[in-house]
Amino acid sequence: MEGEERIIVRHSAPLRGEVQVPGAKNSVLKLMAITLLADGEYTLTNVPDIADVTIMGDLLAAIGVRITRRAGDELTMVNAGEIRPVAPYELVERIRASINVLGPLLGRYGSVTLSLPGGDDFGSRPIDMHLRGLEAMGAEFRIRHGNVEARAERLHGADITLEFPSVGATENILTAAVHAKGTTVIDNAAREPEICDLCAMLVGMGAEIEGAGASTLVIHGVEPGSLRPVDHEVVTDRIQAATYLAATAITGGEVVLRGARAEHMETLLRRFAEMGMTITDLGGSLAAWSPPGRLHSIDVATLPYPGIATDYKPLITTLLSVADGVGIVTENLYPGRFRYVEELQRLGADIRTDGHHAVVRGVGRLSGAPVRAPDIRAGAALVVAGLAAEGETAISGVHHVDRGYDDLVGRLRSLGADITRD
Ligand code: UD1
Repeated sequence: MEGEERIIVRHSAPLRGEVQVPGAKNSVLKLMAITLLADGEYTLTNVPDIADVTIMGDLLAAIGVRITRRAGDELTMVNAGEIRPVAPYELVERIRASINVLGPLLGRYGSVTLSLPGGDDFGSRPIDMHLRGLEAMGAEFRIRHGNVEARAERLHGADITLEFPSVGATENILTAAVHAKGTTVIDNAAREPEICDLCAMLVGMGAEIEGAGASTLVIHGVEPGSLRPVDHEVVTDRIQAATYLAATAITGGEVVLRGARAEHMETLLRRFAEMGMTITDLGGSLAAWSPPGRLHSIDVATLPYPGIATDYKPLITTLLSVADGVGIVTENLYPGRFRYVEELQRLGADIRTDGHHAVVRGVGRLSGAPVRAPDIRAGAALVVAGLAAEGETAISGVHHVDRGYDDLVGRLRSLGADITRD
């Protein structure tokens, strides 16, 4: 596209220095949604400066929450009790996390009209588990004209077993259950650090939750009106942290990631170590050193937390594309999520896909080329690939990267990367 913004990356020397890892997109958007649960003023800190926060803010503003972005990483949100439980198409279709207003609105106001959600385009992303869980609690749904219309007198507690530990379904059931009459048990619940962050903020607001971070979540409903607003610090983003680790690894660098939480990334850190990285937990930060030669290939399969997140996969595939040996990457969550492979191939990567597997044969050197980011994580992976590619890699589709990365270019440049936006 004429005049479209691009990220320009040139082959870079080993990255060195310290970088602050921002707050997590996949947490902050959900924390913003639970300001619907109690009237009053909230302050979120460690809020990443990303487009999705703005979009979620616009959606919540349309529903009736006033939002002010303060200097630095602070967001103030005021729920003055003037809520209109309708989430319009123009805003919902821009962001998957818009579905997260369903649970709080239904639990507190008993009715919601929500356009069916959009977000990243990587295969179909149904919401059947969200709806089945809420139905078990007494909600009724009607889907028409592209909207989900939900009604409930007052939700009641239920025993819900998820077929799959869906992040979004766990969150919606949880945030509805805090106001339900009685106790809700979610079995096979998602266990992501972002779910724990959500539980922590809910508990701060007065919700009664047991089992955060475990497969069984128990929520004892409280009376509507009894929750209160809180101030809360958003958990650090393990996916952005992984991106800086991958950038360090591919350039043969040594970097300290301030704010990165080893306990949220254990499986990934183990796998990076198998590839030859040395990573030390400094308690609230990580120090990473690359091996002297090439990285070693490994086989990786994506799984729900604590397994390897699907969001890490493009980064890992990128590292494997220059590692010594052959690695097999298996996608178990989103069958369509291999679109970035064609872009890596344009950079000279030797990757074959077969169904939900990709076979990656490491090559000595990638070679810079124009490429297009198909989604957030793939965009970041192409930036990482560009650091190791000869010559210049020009990445378009930058708006995807901006959805989830707080100043990726500036942060990488501060570590010595040869990278700009034009
Ligand atoms: C969240 C993250 C996303 C991450 C994903 C998996 C946000 C905003 N997004 O997405 O970055 O890649 O977790 O870690 O936090 N599914 C159903 N029916 C449902 C719900 C989900 O079939 O009702 C399927 C999905 O299509 C997908 C899989 O389950 O194949 C995982 O979905 P889920 O864990 O719900 O992911 P999201 O919450 O959408």
